[in-house]
Amino acid sequence: MATPSLIRIADIAAHEGEQVLLQGWVQARTGKGRLHFIRLRDGSGIVQCVAFRHEMDEEEFALARGLTQEAAIRVAGEVRRDERAPGLPGGYEVGVQRLELVAAADEYPITPKEHGVEFLMDRRHLWVRSSRQWAILRIRATIVSAMRNWLDDQGFLLVDTPIITPAAGEETTTLFDIDYFGEQAFLAQTGQLYNEANIAAFGKVYCFGPTFRAEKSRTRRHLLEFWMLEPEIAFCSLEELMELQERFISHVVGTVLEKHAQELALIGRDTTALERIRPPFPRISYDEAVERLHALTATIDDAEQRELLAIEHGEDFGSPQETAIAEQFERPVFVYHYPTEVKAFYMEPLADRPELCRSVDLLAPEGYGEITGGSERIHDLNLIEERVSQIGLPREAYDWYLELRKFGSVPHSGFGIGLERTVAWICGLPHIRESVPYARMLNRKSP
Ligand code: 4AD
Ligand code: MG
Repeated sequence: MATPSLIRIADIAAHEGEQVLLQGWVQARTGKGRLHFIRLRDGSGIVQCVAFRHEMDEEEFALARGLTQEAAIRVAGEVRRDERAPGLPGGYEVGVQRLELVAAADEYPITPKEHGVEFLMDRRHLWVRSSRQWAILRIRATIVSAMRNWLDDQGFLLVDTPIITPAAGEETTTLFDIDYFGEQAFLAQTGQLYNEANIAAFGKVYCFGPTFRAEKSRTRRHLLEFWMLEPEIAFCSLEELMELQERFISHVVGTVLEKHAQELALIGRDTTALERIRPPFPRISYDEAVERLHALTATIDDAEQRELLAIEHGEDFGSPQETAIAEQFERPVFVYHYPTEVKAFYMEPLADRPELCRSVDLLAPEGYGEITGGSERIHDLNLIEERVSQIGLPREAYDWYLELRKFGSVPHSGFGIGLERTVAWICGLPHIRESVPYARMLNRKSP
């Protein structure tokens, strides 16, 4: 028999009735006696292969019987339509004619039974093979390409920003120090300051890369290393920034719904809430958000619950407040004009109420909290100099940033979207650790 051509499981529907070759790993093997079912995954999909003793060479059938989970194999056989066949895409099975063992597998630690989260996180290098993790990471890749494609189509240019920087872009309390040949440097918390330089060259830019924050809090929303995509636009107001964001987010959610119905079903994501994600998104001011929280608190009998939501005007929101506000809306909600005190140094104050700033956070529904943060930036040299002098880092580190305000400094705005928070929200994950291939958290830097 001539060797049939190699195909990917994802393309199996196009090969109905044909002889094909598949290669991959055994996810499970069941059956006994004359008949064995091998669930094969090749990275692109999962298909059930049926090994019948009378259709195979005796030695190769014995191989099928002995296959253990994660053994690597090659299978040649016929693609048959069977509506009930499990798998991804599903609906097809392969009648095995030839079987080759490429590499055997030791007893695999991750089995279909329940495992504790730490057990799985310790074995993340293997856990990524599991269907649920595989589905999430595929959706993550689509979210990245949907974000980038949309911005590229809107005339934004990708301009990369450095990871090693001399200055803090956000709070100095979460900086990761590195020894730069005896000088102090930090891992980037954001690419924003460089974006602000790049807009004067390219108009509309974005950067996308890993960012680092030494967050000492252990929450389900915080990573120490996370990926952020940050658009920055010259001549852009806060209102225009919100409009851009709602179109951007709606496109990303729509793309995932369109491309990943199967993955979303596999991870058990109810998509009704996602189908509502369309512009316009509701917009409320920080003032109104605080009023809403006060009104809500007044209706709560449980003292502990009340305490959790308690907030004074001027304070920042924590997760409980963000969740409570977002619960009042069906779509992500913009909260704008936060107190200047609780936000980053570069945010433009309101002309008539400088204690508030022209910032905007986007709070996701279903308790996922802040997924984007952005603002209008200070474009006045004197004001930005004053703010930089309050950061407490050597002024030289910011000289170049300040100099931008001397040459055609225009009103400009931008935002950053956290990739992992977005993945967690779209996939409906209980914790951010599953939204990234190898999570970095307070108690974890391995594998
Ligand atoms: O609100 P942040 O800190 O904003 C900035 O860094 C700005 N420089 C962005 C800009 O305007 N260009 O962070 C932006 C987003 C948050 O909304 C959140 O989604 C995510 O980054 N984020 C985190 N995600 C995971 N773990 C963390 N520790 C995060 N901190 C922020
Ligand atoms: Mg923020």
